[in-house]
Amino acid sequence: MCGIIGYVGSRKASEVITEGLKRLEYRGYDSVGIAVAQGNSIDLRKDKGMVNPVAESMRFLDVSGTLALGHVRWATHGVPCKENAHPFIDCTRTIVLAHNGVIENYSELKDELKKAGHRFSSETDSEVVVHLVEEERKKMPPLKAFMAAVRKLKGSYALLCTVADGAETLYCARRNSPLVLGVGKGEMFAASDIPAMLAYTKTFVPLEEGDIAVLSRNGYKVYDANGKEAVRKSITVEWSLDMAEKGGYPHFMLKEINDQKHFVHESLAADVTNARAMVAGHEAIDIIACGTSYHAGTILKILLSRELGKRAEAFIASEYPFVANPGKKTLVIAISQSGETADTMQAVKFAKSRGSKVLSLTNVVDSSITRISDEVVYLNAGPEISVAATKTFTSQAAVIYKLVSNPGPGQERLAAIPSLIEKAMAQESAIRAVAAKIADKKDIFFIGRGLNYPVAMEGALKLKEISYLHAEAYAGGELKHGPLSLIEKGVPVIAVAPKDESLPKLFGNIKEVKARGAYVVALTDDEAVRNEADVSIPLPPAADATLYPFPEIIILQLLAYHVSVLRGINPDRPRNLAKSVTVE
Ligand code: G6P
Repeated sequence: MCGIIGYVGSRKASEVITEGLKRLEYRGYDSVGIAVAQGNSIDLRKDKGMVNPVAESMRFLDVSGTLALGHVRWATHGVPCKENAHPFIDCTRTIVLAHNGVIENYSELKDELKKAGHRFSSETDSEVVVHLVEEERKKMPPLKAFMAAVRKLKGSYALLCTVADGAETLYCARRNSPLVLGVGKGEMFAASDIPAMLAYTKTFVPLEEGDIAVLSRNGYKVYDANGKEAVRKSITVEWSLDMAEKGGYPHFMLKEINDQKHFVHESLAADVTNARAMVAGHEAIDIIACGTSYHAGTILKILLSRELGKRAEAFIASEYPFVANPGKKTLVIAISQSGETADTMQAVKFAKSRGSKVLSLTNVVDSSITRISDEVVYLNAGPEISVAATKTFTSQAAVIYKLVSNPGPGQERLAAIPSLIEKAMAQESAIRAVAAKIADKKDIFFIGRGLNYPVAMEGALKLKEISYLHAEAYAGGELKHGPLSLIEKGVPVIAVAPKDESLPKLFGNIKEVKARGAYVVALTDDEAVRNEADVSIPLPPAADATLYPFPEIIILQLLAYHVSVLRGINPDRPRNLAKSVTVE
């Protein structure tokens, strides 16, 4: 969480940084700041709030200069406020720094620095770093001082720092937080992700753990964790800027939901040959993931168990080290859109420490998870900007279905997926009408069975995260073991009810809630369910019943989107959340 971006070159740096911060805003949006270095002075502007209003009120674009760094924050240490906003400046007002991550030993460092006379203006862990650089700078030149300061840090960090000494140099460092260099002609960039720099270059150099980089308009140098100069692979991305923009849609989320009909083809084209061989070679498979990726992982667990007869279990990544017992014979499959989620990274490290092999499914090329996995399958979903994951869930599901389907005829069923998605999209007006009926409710329940249960969980997560309504999903059979007491007249129950083997049982659960006055919304292609429900959204019939999750999730994503908009919320930027969660 938190997004950082730096620039050195000949353009107006405040413009490059402000534009970049808008693209990074999905990583955090409770405060924002920019620092422009010109000659021997630093112009620092920051405040609580989102990029557009703060950039306007603080007049970011009034500042000229060709070297700058900026930051969008997702608060961890200290409330969102002007003082805690980044960048931070040292006591001499000549060194400025922005940080993404968590400095675990900040309190010891802060005590020492305070004793040495440094004055702090924030409650953050990050501010200690700028004072550390200042302290080291008393003894050595800037690069050495930056390196010495970084060596003292424990925890996770992506850092951008500059010294106003006329040298026009940007110092960068990363450990357990993403940082990518962008290479231009006569200019250099560094940012938390690629889309923030895509307007200016297509050539990128992802830094490795422990790297320190020095950027000037003439190029860059990288030093590894031991301080030795190192060569890092550069990559050229095919993404266009359009892919990271709204393309005429009012929100990224709606664009990304609509994108699915295109990107699912790319995801279905993923190369899973090696991954499939890994699965074939293991009997015990642990799946680890968080949030939406965990729901995709639950689908994978069901398919691995039911279709391939494996002993598979899906774990919430943050719980994994406390509840699982992986070993050399366990295959761990980690699912992470961003490839940076700290909870998932820690679970992968735990599995590796036990000797397990790790296969990861991720969307972000060269992300942290790819560096510690034995095998990687990319989702090929293109950049996802909206905080709520939509197209990447479908991509994860597409890759998962490919992974469990035997090559050749076994994969023929996958050909039906794109048209099931399109047919579900065509129900948007019916979905919007249902959204209007539930938008003013307080509690909403989702029910499903079998493969439809993880879809119900994902539908409830989508709704709660972007509409702030209380939404819970239950396996249909569990209602009578407790939650049924919450059902009373008018409480919406969204039943994910396709014509599959679980429907006769789910039908009974629908009857149970109807008998207690629930307002039943059914996603179904079954006549009897349609007659029983108060309102239904047609599901396109699937010849292979295991494919129903694809149209179901499209409908639930659109439902959550429309409820959010009807409630006057910006679905792209839900309160308190961030897309890439790099703290545990
Ligand atoms: C955050 C996002 C969720 C996402 C989860 C896991 O909480 O807001 O949308 O599902 O992280 O992210 P990952 O990148 O690991 O899939």
